[in-house]
Order: sequence, then structure tokens, then C-alpha cells
Amino acid sequence: MSSDNMFGNNVTKNIESTLQEDRLFPPPDGFAAAANIKKTTLAELQQQAKQDYEGFWANLAHQELNWQHAFSATLDSSNAPHFRWFYDGQLNASYNCLDRHLASRGDKTAIIFEGEKGDTQQLSYRQLHTKVCQFANGLKSIGIKKGDRVVIYLPMVPEAAIAMLACARIGAIHSVVFGGFSAESLKDRIEDAGAVCVITADGGHRGGKIIELKAATDKALANGCQTINHVIVLQRSHHDVAIDTQRDIWWHTLVENQTEHCEPEWVNSEHPLFLLYTSGSTGKPKGIQHSTAGYLLNAIVTMKWVFDIKDDDIYWCTADVGWVTGHTYVTYGPLAVGSTLLMYEGAPIIPDAGRFWKICQDHKVSIFYTAPTAIRALMKQGDQHPNRYDLSSIRLLGTVGEPINPEAWMWYHTVIGKKHCPIVDTWWQTETGANMIAPVPGAMATKPGSCTLALPGIDADIVDEAGNLITAPNQGGYLVIKKPWPSMLRTIWNDDQRYIDTYWGKFEGKYYLAGDSARRDDQGYFWIMGRIDDVLNVSGHRLGTMEVESALVAHPDVAEAAVVGKPDDIKGEGIFAFVVLKGQRPENGIDDMLTQELRTWVGEQIGAIAKPDAIRYADNLPKTRSGKIMRRLLRTIAKGEKITQDTSTLENEAILEQLQGKS
Ligand code: PRX
Repeated sequence: MSSDNMFGNNVTKNIESTLQEDRLFPPPDGFAAAANIKKTTLAELQQQAKQDYEGFWANLAHQELNWQHAFSATLDSSNAPHFRWFYDGQLNASYNCLDRHLASRGDKTAIIFEGEKGDTQQLSYRQLHTKVCQFANGLKSIGIKKGDRVVIYLPMVPEAAIAMLACARIGAIHSVVFGGFSAESLKDRIEDAGAVCVITADGGHRGGKIIELKAATDKALANGCQTINHVIVLQRSHHDVAIDTQRDIWWHTLVENQTEHCEPEWVNSEHPLFLLYTSGSTGKPKGIQHSTAGYLLNAIVTMKWVFDIKDDDIYWCTADVGWVTGHTYVTYGPLAVGSTLLMYEGAPIIPDAGRFWKICQDHKVSIFYTAPTAIRALMKQGDQHPNRYDLSSIRLLGTVGEPINPEAWMWYHTVIGKKHCPIVDTWWQTETGANMIAPVPGAMATKPGSCTLALPGIDADIVDEAGNLITAPNQGGYLVIKKPWPSMLRTIWNDDQRYIDTYWGKFEGKYYLAGDSARRDDQGYFWIMGRIDDVLNVSGHRLGTMEVESALVAHPDVAEAAVVGKPDDIKGEGIFAFVVLKGQRPENGIDDMLTQELRTWVGEQIGAIAKPDAIRYADNLPKTRSGKIMRRLLRTIAKGEKITQDTSTLENEAILEQLQGKS
């Protein structure tokens, strides 16, 4: 993408859409009156953060976290861009999520679980605490200790949260791998993290099928992963799986004789709580490393500010624990504030497209947080599904993962929220740890498609190519964060230089580069315009074009591949691949059998979400004379739009016909 026109086209388009989209939705009166943060409080918080930035965060950290040793120093910037927060304090994340609630809400339900087949389970804070302690003792009994990396590859069941909290309890660093990722992806992550243990299940239920997690784990470990000593296997699907008695232990056997007490390992504020792998534009996925205290603090304050969490809420975030949303807004955030969270194992369309709404009705969900892709998919199924259920318990709706189109926003607002629920469109990233730009719903009006304003203590802005602040409204630019914040990533595991280059390189350490382009309207509201790098956003999940390309060229028939995103009504972005084969190009560039094979292949290499939606075969890829693939051109072609770009630098202009599927 060249810098001169990087934002120009998009901005014009966005301005047009805003002109049609100038609706403003003030908070409903009742909601505003009862909100945790009212307009005046928000203004005060903003003011405090402005006046005394470090003091603002220090006060919150003292108030919101339970410390074993209180901190005295707030922010250390002496080794920027490596920042330390509250760095002489000691605490434990599982203590903050469990123990501190026992006296006041030990019998309160912590987790309501529903399986895809309809089985349900409830765990009180006391029961959850017991299970976490027993499992933590089990981990210790097989030699797992502070600082060890433990990979969690589980379905969406309470044990996923239990495993995370048990790791946190003993100071082990967890790295959750999404259950939809393939054996190959699991292997890469285990090896990069140098993990000593995998926690998995025989299988999980999703989409009416069994997800073969144990089989995938065995495959991953079959040729590599030398650091793994143990595999802990949860019995969930109860189907036969291979057990290697030297290496594998059933979860229920491990916890059988463990005591219900496990003293938390008090760790430094900066101790890594977890690694979570996410895609970048180049190379392999990066292990985003988060801290303990800072991470937990932003998780807590955003639960209160953005989700307006109250003691009697039933809170449901539909994300899988394999993504950052499942870390911050399924596990750590809701439990740290002592709320009741709902967890659902399966797909939204089993047995039909009313499942989410039935769950909301049955469990009286009051706060519902999901992704635009799910909203669009369910909207497409028709209003009759939500209309069959009583959704009157819902008082707040949220979205995350990608820009939400106003049409989907309005459907969510009208059909699900019955026009009386604010919608919090939350912008953030794996790297930011928690919501950064999002409405405080009782204190401000929302606009369909805008994530609104930066939260107190978050200094978000937009700059141009040279790093100058863009002050004029509706001018697109790079979204940056100008000051460090507590829940920011600390580094990339095993690759600190990549951390420095990716996030701090462009503006020479001055600003954190989010990797998104954005603009602000005349009221200062942020509108996210999309990624500035080669990162795809498929169903709200990040995938690097390089990852998919590497998977394609690993196939014996493929010589070269280029992958671009193509707008998709449901998924946000679909994957369009241009492939050059080692042998002859198929006639007219079409080979359905091979396409099917390559899709399956990519699914095995990465996971089903990475399967290209379309593949077009050509004799060559469009390259400049210096050998760079012209991705912008490929994006135009994938969209089926007319080519207006200058193609004179193209080495092989004749290739255009083939790429367009015309010959
Ligand atoms: O491009 C932005 C988009 O998702 C990216 C972060 O992806 P990931 O690390 O997988 O985390 C997703 C869940 C936090 C961002 O760089 N994104 C996320 N939320 C929004 C969004 N784009 C527009 N609006 C949002 N609310």
C-alpha cells in the first residue's frame, strides 16, 4: 500500500457513509440514572487522568486489586518501550479472581455453563475456588512450577477457566490455543513457547460434531514439541482416545486426591500472566506477553466502566477462551469483579439460529457481548428466531473484533435490544489487553459504527505518515496510543526485537502503533477504518496473509501464492487466494478438485477459519519490476472492481486477464 493514497480513498468513502449515518443514540434515561459511571463521574475520571496520569492509575490499582505487597512505584519508563507498572508490588491473579470474593459472595454463582447438547452446570465462587486449588495442586504434583509455560487446548467448558486460573495460582504462564486451530498450529505454538505441558480434552462439541482435540494434540507431539513432559486430558466427549500412559494423565485422576487448599504463589506485578499467539503481517504468529497486575487492572475497570457490571448481572461474552476476548471478558475480567458469567460450549446455530436467544432467555442474561460477524449471521436468519424468546432481561449489548456496519448495529439495537439497550462497540486488540476506545454507556451517546471515545487514562490519537497529530475532523490516519497503559503487552515472547519494530518502530518509540487506520468525526468520535498492514480480519479473528500463503506454498503442487482479503457480508473479510502451480495452469484457471484439496490442506495447516473462500490460478503473480507483489491490485481484482491503478510498473501486464478470471 503506498502511503500517498493509503487513506484518501477510504476516507472519502467513510465520510459518505457517515453523512448518511449521523444518528445519535443517547443512553436511555433509566440506564443513565442507574449506571456505574454517570456523565459527571466520567468527566471527573477524564480530568484526573489528564492532570495526574500516573496518580490516576496508581489510585485505581490500589482500589481495585488485592495486593500481598502493595506497590510504591507506579510507572517505570526508563527502559522504554519496555514499560513496567506497579513494579514493586506482589499479588496473585487467581486470588484476585477467587479468594477475595469468598467472604462476601462465596455462594454466589460464578459460572453458569451450558453445553451444546443442553447439559448445564453451575459453579459458585467457593466451588470454583476449590476446583482451581485442586487442579493447581495437581499441576504442582507433576512438577509444574512458576514460570513454566503450559498450553491449554480445550473446548469452551468451565475447565478452561479453571486451568487458566490454576496456572495463575502457581505462577505458571498459560498459553491458550484456540480449539479450532490445527495440530500444526498447536505444534508451532508449543514449540515457540517451550511449553512443558498441554492441557486438552478427549474432544469438544461444536456444530453437532466432536472436535478431536486429543487426536490433534497427539499429532502435534508426534514430530516435535520435545519440551512437553505431560498431557493432561479432560474427559468431555467420552469417546475413545489413545492414551500414552508415560505421558498422558486424565484430569480426574490428577485431581482425585488433591487437597482443597493451595497457597497462591505471590508474583511480581510484572510476572507474565499469559502468552497469547496472534497473527502479524509477516512471519509466524507472535506470542503476545501480558503482565499480571496491569492486565488485571484494565480488565477490572473496563468491566465496571464499559460493561457497567453490577452484582446481580448475568453476563455473557460469547468469545472462545482461545482469543483475547475470552481471556479478558470471559475469564479474568468477570471473575475479578465477582460477577456471574455464562459460558456456552457450542455453535450459535445448533439446533437452530435461535440458540443464543434461547440461552439469553433461559439464563436471564443481562449483558450480552459478541462479534459483528455473529450478529450479521444471525440477522440473516431472520427476526423470527429472536422474536420467539423473551429477551427482556438484556439491558446492555456489546460488540468487538471488527467494525460493525450500521445495518447490523440497527438490527442489534432494535430486534435484540428492543431499542432500550445501549450498545458498546469496543475497540481493542490482543496487544492492548482490554477495551481502549469504547462507550461508557450511561454517560455518552453512541453512533452506529463508531467505537466512540478513548476511555479515561487511554491516550489514543490519530497521526499522519510523519507522526504529526491530525486535528482536522474526518481525516484518516494511523491510530496510535501516546502514553503507556497498564494492560499493554510487555513484549513478544522469544522475539523482543519484533516487539520493538512492530509497535514502536514507525514513530521512533514515540507512539504505540496499533496497526489500524482511523478517523475522528467533528465530535471527536473514533471510526476504525481497517488494518494498515497485511492482516486479515476473518469473522473478527486475525490472520496474517503470510500465514495463509506459507500454508499454500507448503503444498507440493503450489509454486507461489498471494492472499488478499475480500469484503464478505457475514465474515467481514473473506480470503481470496491467487495461486501459481508448479505444473500447468488448469484450463480457464479453474480446478474445483484442486481448490477443494488446497482448502482442506490450509485447514490442516492452520485451522478451518483460514481456508480460502476462493482460489484463482494464474501463470504468474502481478509483480513490480523490483519483484514486489502488487497486493493493492489483487485486492481490486478480488473485489471484482475495475482496475484503475497504474499497472505500467507491472512486469507482466498480460497476466491481468488471467487474474481476473477472463482467460
Ligand atoms: O483491526 C482491529 C479489529 O481487530 C483488531 C484486533 O484483533 P485481535 O487482536 O484479534 O483482537 C480482537 C478482539 C479484541 C484491531 O486491530 N477490531 C477490534 N475491535 C474492533 C475492531 N475494529 C473495529 N471496531 C472494533 N470495535
